[in-house]
Amino acid sequence: MRKEVVLITGAAGEMGQALIERLSEEGVKNILALDVKPVPEALRARCQLAMLGDILDGKLMDRLVAEFAIPRIFHLAALLSTRAEFTPEAAHQVNVEGTLKLLKMAVEQSSWLGRPVTFMFPSSVAVYGMPDLETKARVGAVREHQWTMPTTMYGCNKLYGEQLGRYYARHYRQLAANARPGGIDFRAIRFPGLISAFTLPTGGTTDYAPEMIHAAAQGAPYACFVREDTRLPFMAMPDAIKSLVELERAPAESLTQLTYNVTSFNPSAEALFTRTKAAFPNAAITFEPDLKRQKIVDSWPENQDDSRARADWGWSPDYDEARAFSDYLIPNIRERYRSPAG
Ligand code: SER
Repeated sequence: MRKEVVLITGAAGEMGQALIERLSEEGVKNILALDVKPVPEALRARCQLAMLGDILDGKLMDRLVAEFAIPRIFHLAALLSTRAEFTPEAAHQVNVEGTLKLLKMAVEQSSWLGRPVTFMFPSSVAVYGMPDLETKARVGAVREHQWTMPTTMYGCNKLYGEQLGRYYARHYRQLAANARPGGIDFRAIRFPGLISAFTLPTGGTTDYAPEMIHAAAQGAPYACFVREDTRLPFMAMPDAIKSLVELERAPAESLTQLTYNVTSFNPSAEALFTRTKAAFPNAAITFEPDLKRQKIVDSWPENQDDSRARADWGWSPDYDEARAFSDYLIPNIRERYRSPAG
């Protein structure tokens, strides 16, 4: 008998860590965590198995198929947008080829199991591409089908990942004699920038928000790499995890699309600064825009319209901007960097 597990790729990343915590709190004991980096020890104890490995390793994928029954997949592994611009081909490998391998594995799993495999895929605000700042300001919140002209490798990769998921879910091998579409229940969420109180992102372009707050709490100076008037959608990490878990649970008949926007608040960088400064008055934050990274954030919309998610599966974030700061970010980040001496 193959052991039944819930597979999380990118398990050592920001979302992966938060998801392990959430699922294990819900009593899920059979988590198979996979990442090229080790999952922190405390979280490893909450997993059935934490494997060090690369989703591009075909042998490893074969082993997963042979050893485990995998009815649920959270495919979180990716290279984020800033990192991807330095190594676009490597990003394509991980973000596209890696996703393809996981989808293929999911198809094999579903034919073994005789039922659909749930495949949760985090997509991103990076799939959008606004042509200029004037349009960005005029358009405001974008809907899922609008402005999908990404300028970054990461955005292109995520947009195509969504399409691959749709293909595997609905049209896979449609001309084959024994074609059996429907083996994968693919569901994607386009996340805004995410801010965690417990971890820091690596290689993203929305990183100025978490970096600013974490630096302030440590008493470290921070040069924000975007202009004060830069506006992007954001969400607190617990809400991101909640949306993944809730979309996975939503009854299939209530879903009208495979990919959903979710978001919560959309502060300017200046508003983030003001809230951070109010909590940490000694914070030494300056604005020193990096024109190239600025161009990327300027191409992302100032908000995402998540009305479909709200209507179809009852999406609603727990943390608006004020509550994200007062109840989640500031107390937890303050605690995290408190010196042992007090
Ligand atoms: N946070 C991501 C990035 O900045 C966007 O999905 O790349």
